[in-house]
Amino acid sequence: MAYPRVLLQVTTSMDHPQSILMTDRIFAPTDASLALAADCLRAGGLVGLPTETVYGLAALASRDDAIARVFAAKERPLFDPLIAHLAWSRRDPLQQLADSGLVDLGGWGAAARERVARLAAAWPGPLTLVLPRTDRVPDLATAGLPTVAVRAPSHPVAAALLARTGPLVAPSANRFGRISPTAAADVVAELGDRVDLVLDGGRCTVGVESSIVGVSPDGSLTLLRPGGLPREAIAAWAGGSVDLPARGATPSAPGSLPSHYAPRTPLQVLGPDAPLPAGRVGLLRMRPGPPRGAVAEQVLSETGDLSEIARGLFAALRALDALGLDQIVAEPSPSALGLGHAIADRLARAAHRD
Ligand code: TXA
Ligand code: MG
Repeated sequence: MAYPRVLLQVTTSMDHPQSILMTDRIFAPTDASLALAADCLRAGGLVGLPTETVYGLAALASRDDAIARVFAAKERPLFDPLIAHLAWSRRDPLQQLADSGLVDLGGWGAAARERVARLAAAWPGPLTLVLPRTDRVPDLATAGLPTVAVRAPSHPVAAALLARTGPLVAPSANRFGRISPTAAADVVAELGDRVDLVLDGGRCTVGVESSIVGVSPDGSLTLLRPGGLPREAIAAWAGGSVDLPARGATPSAPGSLPSHYAPRTPLQVLGPDAPLPAGRVGLLRMRPGPPRGAVAEQVLSETGDLSEIARGLFAALRALDALGLDQIVAEPSPSALGLGHAIADRLARAAHRD
């Protein structure tokens, strides 16, 4: 990563204000550091990108070499495709998708195109659409699939960087299978010097990854990953139902493996009335409750509010995982509906061991 490193040295020693430098690679999102991040990306570097869901590890969507470095940095298998992030405005959504150069809806009929336009009205926000792709998308980014996953993040720092660079691919900025980062320091903890610089956009406000929706040529919708935009809300935007993938089907979001988001400490999901296992146990509670004999406890919401639980979930898992405990016990998601669906999904994946 020669060029971006040199860039960083130049930045610290020359006329950029020292105040933009918070550690050796975390930068407050000033105009100067946005310009630096854009230069770094154009040179093939990797940037820690704050979004409203989780932090991403961004590379220019048009640079094969940078995309290859994303997979290497994350130790991510090449069969697991990336999400392309777009700048977004109030202009005609279908025209913007066409202008991105990534999506080709040319072969689709009016009903399916109308579906996409309706869903795109949820942008910018925590929704990813899987759509037919053009041949300008590097095969590496899509794992050779005929589709590309796209979303327009609402975080102002992501929007500002995308406006400077054009489309960026950005998986979550964690090592493969680990807990997604929801703060700039988490990105450095996960990736160290494998990320060239991280823009500090504060704590992520949603806290779980985007919802991923597959759109079929007939306009029917499948929720490939529950996430920050609840299924009910997606259906409302779409003006139609959103199916769940058939049970036992091979995941059509190839990264949706049963084991994911996993702390290093073994984790199980146990109801609030179940006795805790023996050993040093850390308890992840959705809301306060009577003492259960855990050596450490994280309470996600005073009131059981789903947005608050989602926002704090990964940071709390990360904090418990750092304590070197024998077990983490998580209380179940308070609901299977709304954001509760994504919370339950992440807890189940964190608990899964192959
Ligand atoms: O909120 C998010 O979506 C975050 C932020 C950074 O934007 N990104 C994120 O990316 O969660 P990642 O790489 O951790 O998860 C992307 C998921 C993978 O599970 C992958 O399988 C799925 O998107 N995906 C990507 N392209 C796809 C495609 N063409 N068809 C089906 N699934 C796809
Ligand atoms: Mg991920």
